Amino acid sequence: MLTCVPSLSELVRAHTDLDSEDVAWLQLLLADWQIIADLSFADLVLWLPDREGNGWWAVAQMRPTTGPTAYVDDLVGAFVPRGRRPLIDAAYDAQRVAREGDPEWREDIPVRVEAIPVRREDRVLGVIGRNTNLLGVRTPSRLELAYLQTATDLTRMIAQGHFPYPGQRSDHADSPRVGDGFLRVDETGRVTYASPNALSVYRRLGLTTDLTGLNLASITRDLVPVARRPDEETLSAVLGGLAPRDTEVGNEGTVLIVRTVPLRPAGEHIGALVLLRDVTELRRRDRELVTKDATIREIHHRVKNNLQTVAALLRLQARRIEAPEGRDALEEAVRRVGSIAIVHETLSTSYEEAVDFDDVADRLRVMVSEVSSRGAVVHTRREGSFGTLTAEVATPLAMVLTEVLQNAVEHGFGEGEGTITVTARRRSGRLLVVVADDGRGLPEGFDADASTSLGMSIVRTLVESELDGRLEVGPAPGGGTRVSVDVPA
Ligand SMILES: Nc1ncnc2c1ncn2[C@@H]1O[C@H](COP(=O)(O)OP(=O)(O)O)[C@@H](O)[C@H]1O
Ligand SMILES: [Mg+2]
Repeated sequence: MLTCVPSLSELVRAHTDLDSEDVAWLQLLLADWQIIADLSFADLVLWLPDREGNGWWAVAQMRPTTGPTAYVDDLVGAFVPRGRRPLIDAAYDAQRVAREGDPEWREDIPVRVEAIPVRREDRVLGVIGRNTNLLGVRTPSRLELAYLQTATDLTRMIAQGHFPYPGQRSDHADSPRVGDGFLRVDETGRVTYASPNALSVYRRLGLTTDLTGLNLASITRDLVPVARRPDEETLSAVLGGLAPRDTEVGNEGTVLIVRTVPLRPAGEHIGALVLLRDVTELRRRDRELVTKDATIREIHHRVKNNLQTVAALLRLQARRIEAPEGRDALEEAVRRVGSIAIVHETLSTSYEEAVDFDDVADRLRVMVSEVSSRGAVVHTRREGSFGTLTAEVATPLAMVLTEVLQNAVEHGFGEGEGTITVTARRRSGRLLVVVADDGRGLPEGFDADASTSLGMSIVRTLVESELDGRLEVGPAPGGGTRVSVDVPA
């Protein structure tokens, strides 16, 4: 089943009175609420009051990755009238966390429900319903108690408008999750609890003792060389549990991201929640990709240099040939090699194996019109855009374009003036290229399909076999010649 879940801002606009700053606040909260769901072993649902005050819209939902879900179904987009969920009504009206003594039973699953008001400045924007599936809760371990305590601290901060921290977005891809490594530090920066994963991360960093009881900033200073850590101010602020930020530290063997959320459930700073993630492997792969990219670009650069050398040799040789036919043939070869070199040069500066072909086409136009030997003054222009093309398409297409432009310059105009227009259009997976000149037109009885001369043969073979496309050569509407190439791209 495929349904389209509306976004937070769509739901807010459709049903509530919240303004854009309220939405920004809620989005900041949602960026972090996987952490809260995981620490609570609970499902979270954000309810916002409708305009008329008749009830609540579910605008966002998060399931825990640390425990079973209490909701199998998606609630986003659902509406419940006031009176149906008394805890939500109560949390919103009293502006306090509301909870029930006894669990609710939902289809044989005991669920503990809590409602947490979400405050921004002096207003409550909505209510988070926190639903813990009690089937998953065993006799709590030290880890579970530490998680739950931290979740409670965070929910109290949400109710008071102290969380989220403005300007702190950390839902980027490598942001640490609770399961990656969880620490609590007290107000002096001393570790009071470290999850087994957090301890493992520090062990890999070189720690040989337990982490609990140590000052996190000083032990990190001991384990991480100065060159591989942030400035002293950032280090002591983040690892000391004072600043809501993340930072990266590491040594020879291990790199980790540290994310700190200072906690002040009753207004005063009592320490922080610190999440750790070992990103050694991730960073190694990043580096490998960078090197691989650079290598590919370097190879294109060298291919381009080699082709230019070949072109220069052919040009030298052409100058020494007396017979005009032989010289022309070599000069054409120089251009053919040159057009391939342009594609490789473009690839050598691009970060993907794809080229911005407008750039290539424009350079080919210039190259071809510069060598218009017969003394005609040729103007060229481009309409529309080729977009980006993969190297496999770009190289043959560059050769095709060179031949066609060359023919227009060479055969289209006598000694007068003329214009060549290159039109490119991308539509539904295909690229249509039209090269039209306003010259003297094709010779009487000319048949492009039957033509066995080299230029046309190259064009036909490349378009039909290499590019799997269609080629048409004929008269242009206003006189002159029109060549169109239609290829999948
Ligand atoms: N734009 C054009 N205007 C006039 N004639 C053209 C044009 N394009 C191609 N032709 C004709 O088609 C012939 C074949 O072209 P081609 O295969 O490239 O061979 P070549 O350019 O070596 O003569 C040309 O000799 C010319 O008579
Ligand atoms: Mg030709």
